[in-house]
Amino acid sequence: MRKVYGLMGAACLAVLLCGWTNSSPAAAAEGGGNVYDVAIEPLTVKDCGRCHPSHFARIKEKGAKHSQVVCTECHEVFHAYNPLKNNYAAIMPKCASCHDAPHGQDPGVQKCLTCHADPHQPLDAIADPTLLEGQCRLCHAPIAQMLTAKPSKHTTQPCSSCHSKKHGRIPECSECHQSHSPTVQMATADCMACHPVHTPLAITYPLTQSKAVCGGCHDNAFALLAPNATNVTKHSALTCAKCHPKHGYLPTCQECHGKPHSSLIHDKYATCGGCHGIAHDVKK
Ligand code: HEC
Ligand code: HEC
Ligand code: HEC
Ligand code: HEC
Ligand code: HEC
Ligand code: HEC
Ligand code: HEC
Ligand code: HEC
Ligand code: HEC
Ligand code: HEC
Ligand code: HEC
Ligand code: HEC
Repeated sequence: MRKVYGLMGAACLAVLLCGWTNSSPAAAAEGGGNVYDVAIEPLTVKDCGRCHPSHFARIKEKGAKHSQVVCTECHEVFHAYNPLKNNYAAIMPKCASCHDAPHGQDPGVQKCLTCHADPHQPLDAIADPTLLEGQCRLCHAPIAQMLTAKPSKHTTQPCSSCHSKKHGRIPECSECHQSHSPTVQMATADCMACHPVHTPLAITYPLTQSKAVCGGCHDNAFALLAPNATNVTKHSALTCAKCHPKHGYLPTCQECHGKPHSSLIHDKYATCGGCHGIAHDVKK
């Protein structure tokens, strides 16, 4: 019902505004015909576009999927604004008449126009992530919580500084950082094996982590452990991570070797190091 009423209103007003007639009154009078002997057609998109060229152009060029929707499917009522009735908001189309809460029920995502600012180009205002900064957590709460639960210097970085250019883009670490090791170029996935990006100080790594990567910061340990002419030990074949499975953890020799010699020796010598030196440069 509402729709029929709106269309009739539209047609009548269009006649008024355009002076839309088939022939001039003078010509009709000469022929003696009825100037109203015409069929009234509902306004088409083309008609709306004549007087609203900017809306027409926006929706045509940038309407995304709204470019499949006829003006009057949204504007069931139009040309009915009356300042005395203060009815502007009431006559404007409601997203909910076609969309069923696409982002869920959170109150923060119900005001569609805060993000989709112009319904005639609904994806425009979300194309640039900086415009959505501050709103990300409405839809990505777990990630926002992760960043604040384990504070790091990434916590204070705007989400859109990393997820820049367009919504959902994943950055490379190399856009902002260099590798620790001049000899090892690392892909983003390699960095993230140690630094989960939203909690980068919760450092973890696999037991197979390459020695050269640790060596980028611990060059002394790396050099000592490297097999060379004067020192080839079976420890050289182990990864750093095998002995230091968590960053900063120092193992004891006994964790892997127990007490390999007779109790006479172990009772007499409190440490292994007196005979074997250090793990990175073990003496046989
Ligand atoms: C997908 C639904 C939709 C379609 C399709 C649509 N509109 Fe709109 N239009 C709206 C909504 C919603 C508003 C109210 C926006 C607001 O309150 O900021 C609006 C507002 C308007 C306004 C008044 C406010 C302004 O922006 O000046 C005009 C005029 C208008 N539309 C014309 C058109 C024309 C002409 C077409 C077709 C070429 C069209 N609209 C197609 C949803 C639509
Ligand atoms: C003959 C010119 C003309 C045509 C055709 C026309 N409009 Fe309008 N329309 C206007 C004018 C003038 C206004 C008032 C000034 C303004 O807001 O731009 C207006 C206002 C509007 C408004 C906002 C105010 C209100 O009362 O709704 C909407 C929405 C709208 N038009 C939609 C449409 C749609 C949809 C069509 C096609 C079905 C259409 N118009 C066809 C001239 C026209
Ligand atoms: C008359 C029905 C109608 C109204 C009213 C309407 N839409 Fe849509 N909208 C559609 C249709 C149809 C699609 C395409 C749907 C699909 O493919 O699932 C769509 C798609 C969209 C898209 C995705 C566009 C794309 O290309 O992916 C956005 C965003 C959107 N609408 C936002 C809004 C907002 C915000 C409002 C209110 C201001 C609104 N719509 C009002 C019918 C409507
Ligand atoms: C806080 C900002 C924000 C608000 C508020 C918001 N949207 Fe969105 N919307 C987005 C973003 C970002 C995307 C792209 C991500 C995606 O696909 O969901 C999107 C995508 C969409 C899509 C296309 C994807 C889909 O799920 O079909 C539609 C339709 C849509 N929004 C409609 C709406 C409607 C209707 C409302 C109001 C009930 C609304 N939006 C409120 C930001 C928002
Ligand atoms: C320092 C750069 C950086 C910052 C800051 C950042 N991200 Fe990310 N984000 C990434 C990278 C890199 C990935 C890819 C992670 C992966 O592949 O495991 C990612 C993945 C994501 C993903 C998709 C994968 C997933 O884990 O669900 C979402 C969603 C996301 N980030 C949202 C956010 C939000 C929201 C914020 C701000 C509260 C934010 N990000 C801050 C770099 C960042
Ligand atoms: C209205 C809800 C909404 C808002 C607001 C929103 N997103 Fe999203 N985002 C989504 C949805 C839904 C997806 C999944 C879409 C898909 O898979 O295409 C997504 C996907 C992503 C992804 C890619 C995930 C992947 O697995 O590749 C990243 C990264 C992301 N968003 C970051 C952000 C950032 C940063 C912001 C704020 C600047 C933000 N989003 C704002 C709903 C939203
Ligand atoms: C858009 C730029 C940007 C991207 C992309 C980025 N970061 Fe950062 N990151 C920063 C900034 C800025 C800091 C703070 C630097 C400072 O203050 O010295 C930082 C700090 C860090 C820190 C130290 C955290 C602390 O609290 O001390 C780590 C670890 C880190 N980033 C790892 C990564 C990893 C891993 C990636 C890729 C998954 C990455 N970053 C992607 C900008 C970025
Ligand atoms: C083997 C694990 C590991 C890998 C792989 C790794 N990091 Fe780190 N990263 C660390 C450790 C450990 C620290 C030092 C933390 C501390 O200071 O306590 C660190 C510190 C940082 C810092 C803080 C500033 C600094 O240089 O001390 C940044 C930034 C950083 N890493 C970025 C990266 C990037 C980018 C990559 C990939 C190119 C990467 N990391 C790969 C373990 C790793
Ligand atoms: C994470 C386990 C681990 C720890 C901790 C560890 N080792 Fe070993 N060590 C090994 C493995 C594995 C081998 C090789 C065994 C084999 O191939 O028979 C080895 C071999 C040795 C060898 C023989 C070297 C050779 O080249 O023949 C000596 C000596 C040794 N370890 C002493 C030590 C001492 C001393 C410590 C403490 C400072 C220590 N290890 C800590 C795992 C460990
Ligand atoms: C066989 C086990 C083992 C391997 C492999 C190993 N470490 Fe160690 N590391 C130790 C033990 C045990 C200590 C404690 C000092 C000692 O008794 O030798 C230690 C001490 C350290 C220390 C603190 C003392 C110092 O030398 O600065 C650092 C840093 C370190 N290791 C880094 C590394 C790195 C980097 C690698 C790989 C290049 C590595 N470790 C490989 C067992 C190992
Ligand atoms: C970005 C540089 C960086 C990288 C990469 C790095 N570390 Fe560290 N490492 C440090 C810093 C900084 C410390 C802290 C020294 C301190 O606390 O005095 C440290 C401490 C340690 C310690 C404890 C030293 C002690 O004296 O107690 C060990 C063991 C260690 N790292 C092993 C590793 C291993 C194994 C890797 C590779 C998986 C690695 N590190 C990668 C920077 C790094
Ligand atoms: C008094 C000196 C001395 C002490 C103390 C000592 N070792 Fe040894 N260890 C040796 C000698 C000498 C050898 C080589 C001869 C052998 O195989 O018995 C050896 C060999 C080893 C081997 C290699 C065995 C093989 O089969 O290749 C391991 C592993 C080892 N020691 C671990 C340890 C550990 C762990 C400790 C401390 C709990 C320790 N040792 C304390 C002198 C010592």
